[in-house]
Amino acid sequence: MIIVLGSAGYVGSKFVNYFHTLGQEVFGVGRSEVDYTNIPSLRNWLKSKNPRFVVNAAGYTGKPNVDACELAKAECLSGNAVLPGIIREVCEDLKIPWGHISSGCIYSGRRTDGVGWKEEDEPNFSFRSPPCSFYSGSKALGEEVLEGAENCYIWRLRIPFNEDKNPRNYLQKLLNYDSLLEAENSVSHLEEFVQKCVECLEKEVEPGIYNMTNPGSVFTRQVTQWFREEGVTDKQFQFFEDEEQFMTKAAKTPRSNCVLDTTKAKKAGIGMRPVEEAMRESMQKMVKGAAV
Ligand SMILES: NC(=O)c1ccc[n+]([C@@H]2O[C@H](COP(=O)([O-])OP(=O)(O)OC[C@H]3O[C@@H](n4cnc5c(N)ncnc54)[C@H](OP(=O)(O)O)[C@@H]3O)[C@@H](O)[C@H]2O)c1
Repeated sequence: MIIVLGSAGYVGSKFVNYFHTLGQEVFGVGRSEVDYTNIPSLRNWLKSKNPRFVVNAAGYTGKPNVDACELAKAECLSGNAVLPGIIREVCEDLKIPWGHISSGCIYSGRRTDGVGWKEEDEPNFSFRSPPCSFYSGSKALGEEVLEGAENCYIWRLRIPFNEDKNPRNYLQKLLNYDSLLEAENSVSHLEEFVQKCVECLEKEVEPGIYNMTNPGSVFTRQVTQWFREEGVTDKQFQFFEDEEQFMTKAAKTPRSNCVLDTTKAKKAGIGMRPVEEAMRESMQKMVKGAAV
């Protein structure tokens, strides 16, 4: 059996669905069903279930966006930095392999040599390397807590997108915002991210950190151009003049915009499709969905 913690969440629910489509026995839980934020309670419960793998998709993201983390710091730290340490302790004790959903948002920009950030690079958008948002700082601490963890995958997700009419979908966000920020980013097709994380178990990939984004990067203006080319919308998108104007008018905390290197995942046989292919396909599905 596989256990998914935080199974009602945006990412956790995709894991549960995918395990179902594979015909694998999966048990998803939230904190109200099992208190997995507490070591004895998590240990007793996992012992009784004896899973072959645990996915930690629980974490505090802030609603409607990461600005909310600035107001809920204790919850943010507890979900993103403390909880991974609790799961580590119990899983190592019970010798259960597990995977943690981390984020690429612990970086900003590209490396000084121009390539994307690699798994072993120190975060440069974190409490140890400010400025950062409280959310990013807490996610970087979460990775620090897992340093040297046994039998643990740290899967870095980044700006999930797909064709769903869900306000959490990056493409839907771009369509909904009044003004956009021009920035370059690595992004992850959500279902493909989940599929490749699960392949880690099937292919017995070496545990460790993996940047799980679609190879390449996108600029916001390029995405709006693809929207027009694929017939999603002919809307004339408005852009902020620069990051300063974005910060003054639309945000309370700085956003991470960054490019990740995906060589390690590719070499491990869990590489994702090039970003343009994945994103255009999602847009084509959006158009088909709208026509039905
Ligand atoms: N969505 C993104 O854009 C994105 C990008 C990169 C990485 N991630 C990471 O992916 C993970 C899942 O994110 P998501 O988008 O699926 O978030 P979500 O929809 O808010 O779901 C997160 C789940 O975590 C649980 N949770 C919230 N605060 C918690 C806390 N303090 N302690 C324990 N559990 C808590 C909630 O469960 P209850 O039902 O128990 O409240 C919720 O079901 C997070 O670690 C996030 O940092 C997300």
